[in-house]
Amino acid sequence: MPTKVVVGVQWGDEGKGKIIDILASRSDVVVRSQGGNNAGHTVNCNGEVYKLALMPSGVLYPQVRCLIGSGVVVDPKALLAEIDGLQARGVTCEHLRIDPRAHVVMPWHRVLDGLSEDKLGDSKIGTTRRGIGPCYMDKAERTGLRLSDLCNPKLFAEKVKVVGQLKNAVIEKVYGSQPLDLEAIIEEYTQYGRRLAPYLEDVSVAVWNAIQEGKEVLFEGAQGTLLDLDLGTYPYVTSSHPVSGGVCTGVGIGPTLIDEVIGVSKAYTTRVGEGPFPTELFGEVGDFIREKGHEYGTNTGRPRRVGWFDAVILRHAVRVNGLTSLAVNKLDTLQGLPVLKVCTAYRKADGTRITDFPPSYEELEGCTPEYVEMPGFQEDISNCRSFEELPENCKKYIAFLEEVSGCPIRMVGVGPARSQNLER
Ligand code: GDP
Ligand code: IMO
Ligand code: MG
Repeated sequence: MPTKVVVGVQWGDEGKGKIIDILASRSDVVVRSQGGNNAGHTVNCNGEVYKLALMPSGVLYPQVRCLIGSGVVVDPKALLAEIDGLQARGVTCEHLRIDPRAHVVMPWHRVLDGLSEDKLGDSKIGTTRRGIGPCYMDKAERTGLRLSDLCNPKLFAEKVKVVGQLKNAVIEKVYGSQPLDLEAIIEEYTQYGRRLAPYLEDVSVAVWNAIQEGKEVLFEGAQGTLLDLDLGTYPYVTSSHPVSGGVCTGVGIGPTLIDEVIGVSKAYTTRVGEGPFPTELFGEVGDFIREKGHEYGTNTGRPRRVGWFDAVILRHAVRVNGLTSLAVNKLDTLQGLPVLKVCTAYRKADGTRITDFPPSYEELEGCTPEYVEMPGFQEDISNCRSFEELPENCKKYIAFLEEVSGCPIRMVGVGPARSQNLER
């Protein structure tokens, strides 16, 4: 049985949650490997909308095991609230397991995320302020607390006292803010540890065993390729590795165990937070797409910046992820626009034409997009149930994206529901 990785090819919010939910119906295990509750994955199921942050998007199928790998950073308060919220809606979370190696997002991570962003002012990254960056910083510095620590009350209290003192010194002396009450944190978080202890399991071993037993395993990416710490638009990125390679270290499996890599994209581009965005649209067309596509953050509610489809980005994503196929969502949002534009190359500030995504922020900032124009479509496509039913101009648009990326498009989204996904 093939193992599949699902990754975002743009700056996140490509509709990965919908694609995972659809593929999970044919899977035994769904695994998250990176990121934390900075993610917001939307699943529409029988008219109900579920907004998932840490919980793998396979959770709506009771027979699917949901695993959180060692590369994820877990905010225990947020995860428990998510579990409680799902259970209150009749969704069982019994099949959730979390790797004890996963790092814990502590209150000082959230506080420091906010303080750092405020201090940066105009140079801020525009983070979700969920403590993701500071938690990964501590992991790399080797002072982080892991789930295994959280679930060991004596060890946890000792570590909080040592690390918490250092964090309070930074909060007070660097940022001039109020220190955190470490005793209160120990008390509160020890309770979270008690509740999460039954969920701990070595996810690397669990995934290995599932693969040996011939089970179908799906790896759920969070964020997107251009938010990758190495391969994205640094420094305007997240602190983990959303590219397909991140699955190997974030779960604990070797690359030879991955069979397929499915990239998820929108039929246009969006981005939340700061940073360069060559095909960004301002004015009427941008507003049209934002309103028609409801482009507001799943968790934070922030308006998303919108722009034309960027094939330079897509080719970068095909290469760095080794994509074997693509899913293109939200084609329906473009209905009504007379002309659709696709960026196929950039002109650098010195006039040079480039077709590979530039590695540095400074180079990218000076780039202007070169567009190919295509005719739009006026027909409502949300009721189409096969690729053949799509209007000719839609088919041409999809064929062009395939041509410029060299990657087959196997799914096209014409709406948020499970049934609004056309498979080829
Ligand atoms: P994710 O973070 O990649 O899982 O994406 P989000 O859930 O943050 O954002 C995608 C949004 O687009 C959600 O509101 C989805 O319900 C919605 N969506 C997904 N696919 C389609 C589609 O093909 N058409 C429309 N209109 N909406 C879609
Ligand atoms: P999903 O999984 C879109 C962005 C933030 C910010 C940058 C760094 O729903 O696609 P962070 O809090 O991670 O330190 O913020 O990354 N970002 C996302 N944008 N979708 C996401 O996740 C994101 N997760 C982080 O807006 O620009
Ligand atoms: Mg999202």
